Amino acid sequence: MSATLRPLAVEVRDVTKSFGGVRALDGVSLDLAEGEVHALLGENGAGKTTLSNILCGLYRADAGEVIVGGGERHFQSPAQAIEAGIGMVHQHFKLVNSMTVAENLHLGSPDTPRVVSARALVASAQRMMDDIGLVVDPTAKVWQLSVGEQQRVEILRVLARGARVLILDEPTAVLAATEADELFAVMRRLVAGGRTVVFISHKLNEVLQVSDRISVLRGGRHVVTREAAGATARELARLMTGEEMGIEVEHREVTGETVLELRGVTSRNSRGVVALHDVDLSVRGGEILGVAGVSGNGQTELAEVVTGLRSPEAGTITIDGVDVSAASTRRIADLGVGHIPEDRIGVGMVASAPVKDNAILRHYRSDELSSKQFLRRDRILAFATSIVEAGRVQTRSVHMPAGQMSGGNQQRLVARRESLLADRLLVAAHPTRGLDVLAAKQVQSAIVERRDAGCAVVMISDDLDELLVVADRVAVMYEGRIMGVFDRASFDREHIGLLMGGRTEAVAG
Ligand SMILES: Nc1ncnc2c1ncn2[C@@H]1O[C@H](COP(=O)(O)OP(=O)(O)O)[C@@H](O)[C@H]1O
Ligand SMILES: [Mg+2]
Repeated sequence: MSATLRPLAVEVRDVTKSFGGVRALDGVSLDLAEGEVHALLGENGAGKTTLSNILCGLYRADAGEVIVGGGERHFQSPAQAIEAGIGMVHQHFKLVNSMTVAENLHLGSPDTPRVVSARALVASAQRMMDDIGLVVDPTAKVWQLSVGEQQRVEILRVLARGARVLILDEPTAVLAATEADELFAVMRRLVAGGRTVVFISHKLNEVLQVSDRISVLRGGRHVVTREAAGATARELARLMTGEEMGIEVEHREVTGETVLELRGVTSRNSRGVVALHDVDLSVRGGEILGVAGVSGNGQTELAEVVTGLRSPEAGTITIDGVDVSAASTRRIADLGVGHIPEDRIGVGMVASAPVKDNAILRHYRSDELSSKQFLRRDRILAFATSIVEAGRVQTRSVHMPAGQMSGGNQQRLVARRESLLADRLLVAAHPTRGLDVLAAKQVQSAIVERRDAGCAVVMISDDLDELLVVADRVAVMYEGRIMGVFDRASFDREHIGLLMGGRTEAVAG
């Protein structure tokens, strides 16, 4: 059975964790299935231990959710995590060296009677080992054991407390090669019995040898989860290090007609403050205009006035020569304008509605989907499914509420839907924010594809590096004003960076 079809043991959703200024985890989402060895692969500092420590109740996430057995859990302690069936074997063992194996196994266990004979402890330890198929001399003192044997005792301790999900943090780091092979055999036996083993490592060959699925973390971000079958060490190494990850975008001379034009556009934000000051901009078909700036400098309002969510107070906006300054969102969408909004959940989706309804949310008037007022159920389902598949949206079912998907998958859904809508103009606000690295690359590629099909694109991002790769021109916004517009020949990272901070003195020099 494919690992992705097994029931889920744990879902991690958009988990973020910082230590002081260091963001150890940045919106990580992944799931752990029953009966799989799931490797967490990443270089030193990737966030593997931090994620595990959150799963096992040692740390608390700053944001995001851990879902166990369908319910959201916020573990306050390892005891609570183990009660929910999640236990961890740490890089540094926590055994008491002067005690016997049997004593260590029973230490702190709620099932151990307060007064019990040494012989009864040994017998019970032996039974436990026979059940699990992991054997160590129960009468030996821990200091007498090899490191590999001590690790077995640690594993037994966690399993004895009823763990269904066992997290092993770099377990092979302390083992000789033959001991590592024995450990792998134990791991396979555990998952054959339906448990989940999370195997943390930065060693590619080991991960390929023992895992069913592999999740790669890099710099606190989830890069990808994939089946181990068919993966190669080379490919995993690239994913781990980020080598060759960026997309390459060809930039040719833009020859399309002007699609979007703003002249003297001024608008207030929701608090009544002027958020756009006399903005002039134009974008041609087959061109990506990047809008750079620190969030909150009018980019949101710019996207809103162009897509009809906000009316300008002064100035004109035209799309293909049609004045849309006072047009509704519906009318603008009908002109072939797609919008990937910044607030995916508030503006882009109805969280309580099924995935399939969200997939067609802005398409429902098109002839293919409706006939004589009746939405055609079979077509809707087929169309929604095609959006989900093409957008690589991971969802258990198109019938479940869209709000139950992870943030990254909600975003993929909206991005795909809006790209389909965008025949003439795509307005994309932070389209890759919060996505894992591969998903971000897919979204960027999809945007470039729209451009190559002749669509005009306004791409708002606070990631200047992303814009410098993807955009044909970059406009810089600061406090609602356009500080400058640069074509590729005049891209200058430092200069643009200064303008983003409102500094214009460099322009003169
Ligand atoms: N307790 C902590 N205090 C401060 N920084 C931490 C702490 N734990 C981890 N970090 C930082 O978080 C990042 C991820 O670390 P970690 O999860 O240990 O990575 P990995 O296990 O993949 O090597 C690193 O930059 C690390 O320095
Ligand atoms: Mg670690």
